[in-house]
Amino acid sequence: MNKTTQLYEGKAKKVFLTDDSDLVIQEFKDDATAFNNKKKGSIADKGVVNNAISCKLFTLLEENGIRTHLVEKLSEREMLCRYLDIIKVEVVVRNIAAGSLVKRYGFAEGTLLEQPIVELYLKNDDLDDPLMNDAHAVALGVATYEEIAVLKNRAEAINLVLRRFFADRKLKLVDFKLEFGRNKGTILLGDEISPDTCRLWDLDTNEKLDKDRFRFDLGGVEDAYSEVQRRVLDLD
Ligand code: C5P
Repeated sequence: MNKTTQLYEGKAKKVFLTDDSDLVIQEFKDDATAFNNKKKGSIADKGVVNNAISCKLFTLLEENGIRTHLVEKLSEREMLCRYLDIIKVEVVVRNIAAGSLVKRYGFAEGTLLEQPIVELYLKNDDLDDPLMNDAHAVALGVATYEEIAVLKNRAEAINLVLRRFFADRKLKLVDFKLEFGRNKGTILLGDEISPDTCRLWDLDTNEKLDKDRFRFDLGGVEDAYSEVQRRVLDLD
């Protein structure tokens, strides 16, 4: 499989077309950004770690009947994926209050939510990815009501699989962000699932093992990402 033209370069990844029009290669970078690019840096080997974690989690989801864009892990930093027409909606699932939920609604950080909360955000950097509801998404033309219903159901199903998987590895899945896309009339999970896109806390100590260490200069960023990789891949 050969890379041809670069389709896109984002904050944490590059996507390349290949000589097969249905396949793209997603390449994970070490660059880290937060607060919509206002904070920039680099996390050593983050691309390698996030690719390994994402490939493992996407495989787990496939094993549980959830279709994803993953075809196979090609190399340390490269994932072979199905081409997606990306739906411009970020779906966030929350099990425990943290981050913008705390800021926006005044929850105490760490509050266990009785039911998971699923939120939709418009994927638009210029507008700072605003929170939106189904009607906004439809009015903006980014998705249909039927598609939004699929995204929400799929996000809840993914949450059940991931929560159990992480709990078995002594990690609390606090919240996470998903992106989906269309491929030949089917909606597939796209992007990545990694410590960049999830909040993960140690089950016993509540130590933060995710991008919040970078966002808030907590130190030990690389060690936290490696620790998640160790637990997710059952390394020892
Ligand atoms: O900042 P907020 O609390 O809304 O983030 C919720 C979850 O979604 C966090 O796990 C965060 O890492 C993830 N997220 C993301 N990309 C964004 C916004 C949030 O991965 N653009």
